[in-house]
Amino acid sequence: MKKLSIPRGTNDILPEDIPLWNNIENIARQTLKLYGYREIRTPIFEETELFARSMGQTSDVVQKQMLTLQSQKQAEVDEAQSAGYALRPEGTAAVVRSYVENDLDKKESLSKLFYIGPMFRGERPQKGRLRQFHQIGVEAIGPGSGSPLLDAEVIALSMHLLRAFGANNARLKINTLGTPENKKALFGLLKDRLAPRLNELCPECQQRYERNVLRVLDCKNPSCKAVVAQLKLGYDWLSEDSKKYFNAVKKALDGLNIVYQEDQTLVRGLDYYTHTVFEIADSSLGSQDAVGAGGRYNNLVAELGGPAIDAVGFALGIERIILATQGRVQVPAEALDVFVIAMDEAYAVEAFRLLNDFRRLGLSADMGFQGGSVKSQMRLANKLGTHYVVIIGEEEVKKKEIALKDMRSGSQENIPVSSINERFKAIKEGR
Ligand code: HAM
Repeated sequence: MKKLSIPRGTNDILPEDIPLWNNIENIARQTLKLYGYREIRTPIFEETELFARSMGQTSDVVQKQMLTLQSQKQAEVDEAQSAGYALRPEGTAAVVRSYVENDLDKKESLSKLFYIGPMFRGERPQKGRLRQFHQIGVEAIGPGSGSPLLDAEVIALSMHLLRAFGANNARLKINTLGTPENKKALFGLLKDRLAPRLNELCPECQQRYERNVLRVLDCKNPSCKAVVAQLKLGYDWLSEDSKKYFNAVKKALDGLNIVYQEDQTLVRGLDYYTHTVFEIADSSLGSQDAVGAGGRYNNLVAELGGPAIDAVGFALGIERIILATQGRVQVPAEALDVFVIAMDEAYAVEAFRLLNDFRRLGLSADMGFQGGSVKSQMRLANKLGTHYVVIIGEEEVKKKEIALKDMRSGSQENIPVSSINERFKAIKEGR
């Protein structure tokens, strides 16, 4: 029979990895609370059109990486309606869709939202690049979100999170794309400057020149990089207001002593960005070195049918955080309060009953369901990091007692069954 295996570019997160994941999520939730962000959960699939409209038809994600869902029936419907669903490649579009659909702008002037969950992109898998990966993302949306201080806040928050996880090599790069009009002017400038040097660009960038010339700026191909290095774009294409805005963001970052590097080649692959864009790279990661990225997107809410409302946000990739922090995220040791051992099969039901009592007292408890010798059950208790072992055998049952062993001190005593509740309540309180 064919051996079934996990889809390429996806990972099982095994029980032994879960404490690390839980810890990252707990640190994230605690930190996000400090900044006043509240959780939102949207479906993991949406209408394909939502992503095409928000991230841009010409973006790599929409062109090459959408994982669309189709049932037999859906295929027929699609032909007629060209509807269809796709697994979400990112969270921003979905959060904005939800913001608009639920009229959140009428409920609060600033919605500070966060999400933690899986995203899906049909990319060619390699180290740090997966088809199912997880993001911790933040979106600040609302009539009151147009302040440069909020750009600085989300950048500060992303750096705070990375520091809290122990990603010490994170370097921040920032840039501005200005308003949509400024962006258009930059497009024109780039087209003019690149036209005489088109044949020096890689084949992909020759296509990008037509489709989305901005993306030539962040191409990794050495010959494209060489052309880009000589472009000397300057900031003449940026309006005075946009310059002022960017300066205010930088001043706020300086005020927080956040170190950043300005990089005019940072343009981001998604169409919705306006004004501030940023990316955080970690040098320990190799070629896929972005641990997180984000920016402002002042037109997306309106483009998705909502009012003209500003917004800014970012997302961090959890798998990349784990790669970048190798072993530095503090993981509390998993431990079991009580392990119950029946010395003989005959006392297994009694052990099982006791186990239930411990759980009702709020203690984590388990037993050796497969039986076996006391020695082998002790070994199992040890492996589970057990604090107390309770043993019952003929002698104990006769005397209505249990043997109680403190695995940390090694001491052992017999206590009457009638005092179990009181004794373990005290243990729980002292824990
Ligand atoms: P993004 O740059 O596409 O931005 O993704 C953000 C982060 O997700 C990346 O920096 C990386 O850590 C992680 N990531 C992306 N693709 C993969 C992959 N294939 N495998 C592993 N990790 C990956 C966004 O998604 C925007 N929605 C961010 C944003 C929020 N902008 C404004 N608000």
